[in-house]
Amino acid sequence: MELVDTHDLGSCVERRESSSLSICTKTKKMKTIIAVNKAGYIGKNDKLPWNCKEDLKHFKKLTMGCKLLVGRTTYESMPLLKGREVIVVGKGYNTLEQALEKKPDWIIGGKRIYESTIHLCDELHISEINDETIGDTKIPELKNFSGKKIIYKFDTD
Ligand SMILES: NC(=O)c1ccc[n+]([C@@H]2O[C@H](COP(=O)([O-])OP(=O)(O)OC[C@H]3O[C@@H](n4cnc5c(N)ncnc54)[C@H](OP(=O)(O)O)[C@@H]3O)[C@@H](O)[C@H]2O)c1
Repeated sequence: MELVDTHDLGSCVERRESSSLSICTKTKKMKTIIAVNKAGYIGKNDKLPWNCKEDLKHFKKLTMGCKLLVGRTTYESMPLLKGREVIVVGKGYNTLEQALEKKPDWIIGGKRIYESTIHLCDELHISEINDETIGDTKIPELKNFSGKKIIYKFDTD
């Protein structure tokens, strides 16, 4: 996988500040956001293998006010994401097709969702986490992604 290291935050999302609420006013692109550690893992026991506050802040900043598409497994183990609309794919929720019709701004995982949608995304935002935990979920195959890659690096706390 070719990685392009850039700090260009160039967001597809224009935010309008209304009181304290950040609202997406335009979004034509669909983006993927993934955090991966030095060992190539993205998950362990249905959670993130690390504790990186800086990356959580980064995730919050990019996704606030947006529509997020998430797999059932990740959804059921993640905290409430305030200020964001969450579209869940899985039994009892949406099919992938139904979820995509709702025009999510961000694909936020997990692995199966990334693999099913990576070819549809215009941008891939990867955080490389300074952590070497051996997890149980590796970063998905990204060879079908052909858009723009944006890489950020963060240290764990
Ligand atoms: N590092 C990161 O950036 C990051 C981000 C998110 C998640 N994660 C990690 O990733 C791991 C979870 O990944 P995962 O692959 O096990 O779970 P997942 O993608 O979050 O969810 C899988 C479930 O979502 C539904 N689903 C996914 N793709 C589907 C499709 N194409 N069509 C229909 N349903 C679909 C299915 O639900 P049903 O079983 O109900 O049919 C499937 O069992 C966790 O460890 C989590 O912490 C890491």
